[in-house]
Amino acid sequence: MVWTLQAPTALTESQFVRWSKLLEERTGIQLSAQQKALLQSQVTMRMRELGYSDYNQYYQLVTDGLSGLMEWSVLVDRLTVKETSFFRHRPSLEYVRRFIQNRINNRELHGSFDIWSVGCATGEEPYSLAMVANDCFELAGLPPYYGITALDISSAALAQARTGIYNARKLEQVQPDEVLRYFERTDDGQFQVVKKLRDRVCFSHGNVTRISAMPSVSMDVIFCQNLLVYFRRWLRRDILNAFAARLKPGGVLIIGLGESVDWEHPGLKRVVGSEVQAYIRDQRQEQ
Ligand SMILES: C[S@@+](CC[C@H](N)C(=O)[O-])C[C@H]1O[C@@H](n2cnc3c(N)ncnc32)[C@H](O)[C@@H]1O
Repeated sequence: MVWTLQAPTALTESQFVRWSKLLEERTGIQLSAQQKALLQSQVTMRMRELGYSDYNQYYQLVTDGLSGLMEWSVLVDRLTVKETSFFRHRPSLEYVRRFIQNRINNRELHGSFDIWSVGCATGEEPYSLAMVANDCFELAGLPPYYGITALDISSAALAQARTGIYNARKLEQVQPDEVLRYFERTDDGQFQVVKKLRDRVCFSHGNVTRISAMPSVSMDVIFCQNLLVYFRRWLRRDILNAFAARLKPGGVLIIGLGESVDWEHPGLKRVVGSEVQAYIRDQRQEQ
């Protein structure tokens, strides 16, 4: 690593356009003009670490073949917003609880119950889903035939998610009985999600904007919150349509409130109510 004392100058308007275009092409994330400072500070910080002072040279590095892809994976982690928390939107998670309970009560569970957490960041969302699913299966005295696939574009976030280790502050929205049942204290005073939940969550690296290249596995629940907001309207619509195609008949898609207000799909019905934004796939539809 070469260190330099020469600080990069401010990004020019055309450099900002070039970098934000690259980010959007590769991740779907659209930056507003106000986010120029964020882009600049993250790119500059990384350039400093590598000893670069010229944005164009660093751009060359990032866009150059395989080594460019490795560098890109570091940079993308710096440029994505990974804000998240356990039970970030309780009403959506309580909706999933009722959905699973209804399936169990109506004896509609056939095979495994599959959940997809898209844009899972450091794991708080898929582990919250695992707690809810586990509650339902345990209460019904059923073996835990559920699985959660959790996808994110940030390798660093996924590495942290796989450990399942969080500090006490991260557990603020977890109820005391959930902490007791689903976390263990580590030697250094942190909290680790218990193994029986970690075993049910499979973290995978991927880019939701390339969803058509992903294996087409059908899901009972697709949970995607606080990700689509970063995308253009047409891209949100395409991704939502692709989610719809990946729902099992009777499955549910849950997004963040207000994240795509005008989207409709002929095979899905919007759930009535203002607390969650959810869409159920028609039971009779064949895959
Ligand atoms: C703000 S966090 C939301 C986390 C969680 N869903 C929640 O609501 O708390 C957005 C996450 O989406 C991920 N992300 C951004 N672009 C993505 C893409 N194209 N494909 C997959 N994940 C992406 C980011 O790395 C980040 O972890």
